[in-house]
Amino acid sequence: MRLRKPHRSDGASMCGLVRACPPLDANSAYAYLLLAEHFPDTCILAEDDEGLSGLVTGYLPPNRPDTLFVWQVAVAGRARGLGLGRRMLHALIERPELAEIHYIETTVGPGNAASRRLFAGLAHSLRASIVEAAFFDAALFGAGDHEAEPLLRIGPFETSAVTAGAIC
Ligand SMILES: CC(C)(COP(=O)(O)OP(=O)(O)OC[C@H]1O[C@@H](n2cnc3c(N)ncnc32)[C@H](O)[C@@H]1OP(=O)(O)O)[C@@H](O)C(=O)NCCC(=O)NCCS
Repeated sequence: MRLRKPHRSDGASMCGLVRACPPLDANSAYAYLLLAEHFPDTCILAEDDEGLSGLVTGYLPPNRPDTLFVWQVAVAGRARGLGLGRRMLHALIERPELAEIHYIETTVGPGNAASRRLFAGLAHSLRASIVEAAFFDAALFGAGDHEAEPLLRIGPFETSAVTAGAIC
């Protein structure tokens, strides 16, 4: 399993992986081209012999350089339950480019047990608290049956603790 930053040539594969990973929203290939082109430092891909097996997309919200917003985490069915989601998140926050982050934010639907467990485990390994608050209510998504997306905020933590081996 190889972990690396995305390149624009990964955009279509990233889109394909996300489309294969409900309940994630299926976005356009263009969205992933933009992420790969403009935000490679805050995104990470995993590859195995079959191709793309996992991704984490994220960015630093404007004017909040201490916070990494994790947008989507996707692990292909063949690679689930092996710790890949956790490994990608840890590898991301260990990057020197992200040495100044002290918080991770994400949104997780109420019923997504795997994702909630993933982020709870991350908070535990960072010895950080995790706080949940209302964020994007269902009505904000317009017509359809999109569920609400509450915000999870993890932190504060020191990324130096990561490199010192606090994450296990
Ligand atoms: C959520 C997802 C990324 C987890 O990836 P993964 O590589 O299988 O997760 P890991 O193996 O790293 O496991 C992380 C934790 O989640 C738990 N977990 C994994 N799958 C689970 C499931 N189906 N139900 C409950 N817990 C689960 C693991 O037991 C582990 O918990 P622990 O730290 O207490 O031991 C993956 O299931 C997925 O792609 N789901 C579809 C897309 C999605 O919902 N993404 C998240 C929204 S951003």
